[in-house]
Amino acid sequence: MCGVFTYYGPKTNAGEIVIQGLKRLEYRGYDSWGIAYKNNDKINIYKQVGKIGEINSDDLDLKPSQVAIGHSRWATHGGVTQINAHPHSTENNEIVLIHNGIFENYLELKKQLEAKGHIIKSETDTEIFAHLVQEHNQTQDFEDSVKLALKEVEGRYAVVLMHEKDNKVIAARKGSPLIVGVGENNEYFIASDIPAFLPYTNKVIYLDDNQMVIIDNGDLKVLNTETHEEVEKRIIEIDWDIESAEKGDFPHFMIKEIMEQKDTLSRAINQDPKTIEAVAHEIKNAFGTYLVACGTAGKVCMVGEYLFSKIAKKHVNFSFGSEFPYHKHFLTDKTLMICISQSGETADTLEAIDVAKKKNVKVVAIVNVESSTMARTADIVIPIKAGPEKAVASTKATTAQMAILTLLAYACNGGVKHGQQLLIETAGKINDMLNPRYEEHIMQLAKKIKDVESMYIIGRGMNYPIALESAIKLQEVSYIHAEGFAGGELKHGPIALITDGTPVIAFVPNDDTKSDMISNATEVKARGGYIIGVSPENHPVFDYWIKVPDCKDASPIVNIIPIQILSYQLAVLRQNNPDMPRNLAKSVTVK
Ligand code: AGP
Ligand code: GLU
Repeated sequence: MCGVFTYYGPKTNAGEIVIQGLKRLEYRGYDSWGIAYKNNDKINIYKQVGKIGEINSDDLDLKPSQVAIGHSRWATHGGVTQINAHPHSTENNEIVLIHNGIFENYLELKKQLEAKGHIIKSETDTEIFAHLVQEHNQTQDFEDSVKLALKEVEGRYAVVLMHEKDNKVIAARKGSPLIVGVGENNEYFIASDIPAFLPYTNKVIYLDDNQMVIIDNGDLKVLNTETHEEVEKRIIEIDWDIESAEKGDFPHFMIKEIMEQKDTLSRAINQDPKTIEAVAHEIKNAFGTYLVACGTAGKVCMVGEYLFSKIAKKHVNFSFGSEFPYHKHFLTDKTLMICISQSGETADTLEAIDVAKKKNVKVVAIVNVESSTMARTADIVIPIKAGPEKAVASTKATTAQMAILTLLAYACNGGVKHGQQLLIETAGKINDMLNPRYEEHIMQLAKKIKDVESMYIIGRGMNYPIALESAIKLQEVSYIHAEGFAGGELKHGPIALITDGTPVIAFVPNDDTKSDMISNATEVKARGGYIIGVSPENHPVFDYWIKVPDCKDASPIVNIIPIQILSYQLAVLRQNNPDMPRNLAKSVTVK
């Protein structure tokens, strides 16, 4: 979680550049923010609680500066307060740092540092690192002090440090993302994500875990943090354009990204056939395949279980990233792991990969961010090509991930062309579906149910995980209590929750779940439930009908789209910010 941003270069408005960069990173964490910049060899720190998007930097009276660091926080250790906001520093702001991740052994280190007389001001795990560096700095220079301090901390992190009496900016990563942007005239940026510096440069250096970067008067070197040997790094030119990372004419990223689904499916299925065949080959030959992911991507994996069973006649297992380590006893070098992640930085899924790699499991990653840690750790990568997804609620990445799993399931039974054909037709139908009239029809429903306390969603077969995913979407941005169930399960308990007018969304595709879903919807209606049918055809049991195209085995892909729109509209009607829902952040880089 959290966004880090650093500027080092010839421009003299480093503070302002960092504030603008943090605004582009705010989707990663937004409970508080802060910057530190050097002016006349003095480090100034400014930090506050709240969203940086609401700040006008002219009001901050920033002094000229050529080096600055900034952070947008998603608190893990210590409440959301100004003191706990980053940057953190030692006395008189001598050593200043920003940090993404968790220093797991911070309590132990804190005790040792306090015993040596350090005064730790905040409740964070972060601040101890500045003091640790200061401790070594009594006998070593800044660079060596950071090197020694890095050897003492445990956990996943990305850090960037400045020193009042040293020109260097030093950054290091282990498990949390950190990318260097290389501008003109010895200008450097260090950020958690590329869009943050995209207005200045598209040339990047990807840091790997256990690497540190030292920028000193325009020179940059990358070292291995364990051996301290210099590592040769390539500068890579990326072809992202700034428009795809901005909102354009849309009021929010979430609705922009929902609408982009007119194109994203076609992009997702435009894959190198050799890669798809290679992964299908691995699945067919594996002694056990695990689909592993978190949150929404986890629900996509569950859809995958049904797709592989129906299309490929193949059993695959699903595990949440955080639960996967408890399956390690089953793993052998014949096991295959397929990880799905939009960001490619989700700590729980990365941890699952670590566990799998220790057992020599082959890892396939289906990711959106191709430069991510997951993509660089996996043996085979399938990029979903959805373009930057910035709203916290995943939408276009979700449908693109489902398209890839559909393609793989077809590839496993030798019918990849058939799968492609189905998905091309589905992409065309989504394009026709996403129009202002469709949005307006869903808006009528949103206005009707916007004040309900609870709602339920039911589906069967491959649309059961879509009921679960619908609940995540509604919870995340509308804050309405929403729960998804398998259609047949309601009568085993949850039906007791249905009272007069309780909204229940029922997925009724044209498949073998149809008649049982109609029965389940009828059972709910008999208890007073208000039935919202998502189906290619209307039915008398529906109180409100949302039409979706008939897309056969691609029904999960089309069915989630109206619920994404409904969730967005409910968020706006209830005056929530759909792009930055409370308590959440886009990429969950902590455990
Ligand atoms: C999606 O709407 C959620 N914000 C969340 O569940 C997300 O899908 C999950 O954290 C996994 O993220 P990833 O795809 O980047 O790994
Ligand atoms: N653990 C640090 C904190 O709580 C960093 C959290 C983050 O990644 O934003 O402040």
